[in-house]
Amino acid sequence: MEKTETARQLLEQYVSGESLIRHCLATGAIMKVVAGALGQDEDLYETIGILHDIDFEEVDGDMERHGIEGARILLENGYGKDVTEVVKKHNDMIFGSSEGVADVVLQAADNISGLIIACALVKGGSISDVTPKTIKKKFQEKSFAAGCRREKVREIEEFMDLSRFFELAIVAMQEIKGDLDLS
Ligand SMILES: [Fe+2]
Repeated sequence: MEKTETARQLLEQYVSGESLIRHCLATGAIMKVVAGALGQDEDLYETIGILHDIDFEEVDGDMERHGIEGARILLENGYGKDVTEVVKKHNDMIFGSSEGVADVVLQAADNISGLIIACALVKGGSISDVTPKTIKKKFQEKSFAAGCRREKVREIEEFMDLSRFFELAIVAMQEIKGDLDLS
C-alpha cells in the first residue's frame, strides 16, 4: 500500500469529522505539490499534511496538547521524527514560528486550504472555477475565511512567489476534488 494511503487510514481511525478529514487531505495534497516544486520529498510532505491534525478530536479544544498528542500518536504508530517533529511544532502557539522548509510549507498549506475550499463553495462547490486571481482577491479580504492566518501563508514567500503558491495549491486540490466533495 502507498505510504500516503496508510496515513489516510490512520487519520480515519482518529478523526471522524468529515470536514476535518477533508481539511487534512487538502493540506496533504498541497504539501505534495509544493514539495515537488521545491525538490523536497513528496511522499513525506503529503504524509505530514494528512496527519498534522490527527489529534484534533482527541485534544478536544485543549490547544496546550494539540500537536504534542499528535506526535505521540504518530510515534506509537511507527512514524519517525521527520514526521512527528513537524506535526508537534505546527502548534506555533506553544512552539513559536516555523523553522524548517517542511514547517513553513505545512503552515502555508494548513492556512490556505480552508480559504480555497471557501472560494469553491462561493462558486457552488466547483473548485474547477477557482482561479489564482480569485484566491489573490479573497486573500486580501481579511474577513473572508477569517480563520486563514494570512501571515502564515506569506512565510512561503521565502521559497516561492505567493502567486505561484496559489497556483500550485489550486492544482493540488483540483487533483483530489472528489475526496474534497467538490466538483
Ligand atoms: Fe490544520
